[in-house]
Amino acid sequence: MYPTLLSSTTIGNYAISNKVVMAPTLTKVHVPAGIPNDVMVNYYSQRAKAGLIIAEGTGPAENGMGHAHMPGIYSKDQIAGWKKVTKAVHENGGRIFLQIMHTGRISHPANMPAKTDIIAPSAVPAKGEIWTEQHGWQPYVTPRAMTTSEVQKMVQQYVKAATQAIAAGFDGVELHAAHGYLMDQFLHPDTNQRTDKYGGSIHNRVRFILETVAAVSHAIGKDRTGIRLSPYSQVNDLQHYHEIDATYEFLADALDTYRLSYIHLLTEPATPATLIAGIRSRFGGTLILNGDYDAIRAEQTVLNGLADLIAFENPCVSSPLTGKFEMTSSEPLKKPNYACANC
Ligand SMILES: Cc1cc2nc3c(=O)[nH]c(=O)nc-3n(C[C@H](O)[C@H](O)[C@H](O)COP(=O)(O)O)c2cc1C
Repeated sequence: MYPTLLSSTTIGNYAISNKVVMAPTLTKVHVPAGIPNDVMVNYYSQRAKAGLIIAEGTGPAENGMGHAHMPGIYSKDQIAGWKKVTKAVHENGGRIFLQIMHTGRISHPANMPAKTDIIAPSAVPAKGEIWTEQHGWQPYVTPRAMTTSEVQKMVQQYVKAATQAIAAGFDGVELHAAHGYLMDQFLHPDTNQRTDKYGGSIHNRVRFILETVAAVSHAIGKDRTGIRLSPYSQVNDLQHYHEIDATYEFLADALDTYRLSYIHLLTEPATPATLIAGIRSRFGGTLILNGDYDAIRAEQTVLNGLADLIAFENPCVSSPLTGKFEMTSSEPLKKPNYACANC
């Protein structure tokens, strides 16, 4: 079953055994001080049969740790914790990238180290509430707008995080520019109301992402750098705006010039097929699609050349990928209603 999806391929310079990607998914285990623990070693190593694992959103700095139970990649102990994860995945024959996720305004002080500022492109709070371990659901707070020099320093924080991810044994990093987190907050005109060179036109709103892409890929290699985008997502209080397609087409053109390893594109909620095809035609690297795929649709999508790899959350999260499940089962990979094993 699924001969195309389950056949080997390459991503960047890496050979991978199939075209199934485990989507980044916060394991939500207790990680005091953001240090990955043995539950995570077990969790990720059990899933090493996916062609590529993208490990969960991980903070590049203390002020990017806005969610409860997020791991980090800025302290020595965090690097040591991740080393155990990558070693176990590699011993089981897998490949693993780390997703670097700065939460920006999608943060709460109770989730972060004491006296940490919540920062964002502009002082625009998200509507709604965020989970905290100490006080349950809490309204979002108003973030402090980053100064221009803080934006430039943030680029270097991503570089440091990416370099430390490689030191921790990851095969590469995925920059999280989706779902309304910091990078996405720069892209979106509602959350980016800046008047400096990082705000206003499309050209300016993509600048922070492109400067980070350039600096990270220079530091660790373009083959080891990917990016996640979610043009039509309304997660974390994002509204649709009239320049969505133009923004992402511009970005895809620019990312192509950096020859990044991959774009990981979230297509739910419904993303116009013309935009997906436009990104595909503009970007010469690997295209990973994610968004409510089952194995049948994934097989057809890859077979028809619309994507190179397909990412799944549900089946990867809910059950380890066993040889039986992957290679001989005729069941679709997607199993709705499965509970997350670790949430
Ligand atoms: C519990 C949970 C945690 C998640 N954590 C992350 C994350 O850290 N980074 C990210 O980019 N997406 C995250 N996601 C989104 C998933 O990667 C994925 O895009 C989404 O669940 C849709 O996948 P599916 O259509 O295969 O179910 C998370 C989703 C869930 C359910």
